[in-house]
Amino acid sequence: MSGLDTGVCRLLGTRYPIVQAPMAGGFTTPELVAAVSNAGALGSLGGATLGPDELRDAIGAIRRLTDRPFAVNLFAQLPPPEADTERVAAMQAVLAPLRAELGLSEPQDVPSAPSPGLVEAQLAVVADERVPVFSFTFGTLSLEAVREAGSVILGTATTVAEAVELERLGVDAIVAQSGEAGGHRGTFLGSFEDAVVGGVALVPRIADRVSVPVLLAGGIMDGRGIAAALALGAEGVQLGTAFLGCPEAGSTALQRSTLAGAADRTLVTRAYSGRQARLVRTRLVDAIEDAGVDPLPFPLQAMLVAELRAAALEADRQDLLFVLAGQGSAAIRELPAAELVATLVRETEDAIRRLAGR
Ligand SMILES: Cc1cc2nc3c(=O)[nH]c(=O)nc-3n(C[C@H](O)[C@H](O)[C@H](O)COP(=O)(O)O)c2cc1C
Repeated sequence: MSGLDTGVCRLLGTRYPIVQAPMAGGFTTPELVAAVSNAGALGSLGGATLGPDELRDAIGAIRRLTDRPFAVNLFAQLPPPEADTERVAAMQAVLAPLRAELGLSEPQDVPSAPSPGLVEAQLAVVADERVPVFSFTFGTLSLEAVREAGSVILGTATTVAEAVELERLGVDAIVAQSGEAGGHRGTFLGSFEDAVVGGVALVPRIADRVSVPVLLAGGIMDGRGIAAALALGAEGVQLGTAFLGCPEAGSTALQRSTLAGAADRTLVTRAYSGRQARLVRTRLVDAIEDAGVDPLPFPLQAMLVAELRAAALEADRQDLLFVLAGQGSAAIRELPAAELVATLVRETEDAIRRLAGR
């Protein structure tokens, strides 16, 4: 009996209660998702930025690579953002000197809001494809179709109140996203500032208040973190940053070296997308933070910085990158996904044995 055989394994149909986090933006390639699932954990596709056809194609590609369960993740529908011309111009002025360093002379066009029907169209694909597990973040959405399709449903909470609300909506398990977590904050009730809660405080409080299983997401990079999460009352874990070191992931060598060098240099900021997200502090992030100009509402800020991001990656300019990362990122390991899963399992079992004094 490995101590890793929790109710979450039976719920997800996996050997281990370990989920590779969905990471929208091309990081969670079908190759990564399938390799993780084939290794006995749950791979997740970050589908939020994919159009319906791309989403269907990616699901098909995963299915060609594995017959094990996997997850697809979407963002909840948010109110349409408004791009006020003065705010756009102010942010363009902040970005102009940084863009000039990369040879981008003209300001990037004023972004237009994403299509309002996108989330519904994505959800329809997820239901139609009968994906084994569906997960979501940024709020709540209509779950009937995916529930009828038989998907296991995971919702993201950053506070006890959000976890209670998700249980009321009928999710099968809760991903408790702690303050350490990399990427966007899933917060949807109350203020973002109040919802950056460390995992040690968050997990037991949520576990005490809901009857569905809880998975901790945030800052876990090795088996010690997994054992700690289980000790806190979680029945599983979700790791994002740790999987960005896998060769199957869509991260570039420059992004990986930025993650590895990011010890104690992550912050939660709106500079990247307009929504609070934890990322590595770079000169670009500092320049936007220090300018005192309010970033555009999500996701317009991400659209306004898209060209600059791409050019910085192309030019190998670490100082001008946006790299989403959790607080544990310096412990990233460049291991193939199957090896990372096996290592995490071994380390967790070792940590549990050590605690039991064996
Ligand atoms: C690059 C990156 C992209 C992310 N994209 C998503 C996403 O699309 N959907 C989602 O639910 N969570 C997303 N997250 C958050 C993860 O689900 C998870 O909460 C986080 O990775 C856990 O913290 P860790 O990175 O310290 O392991 C993302 C995280 C990162 C690092």
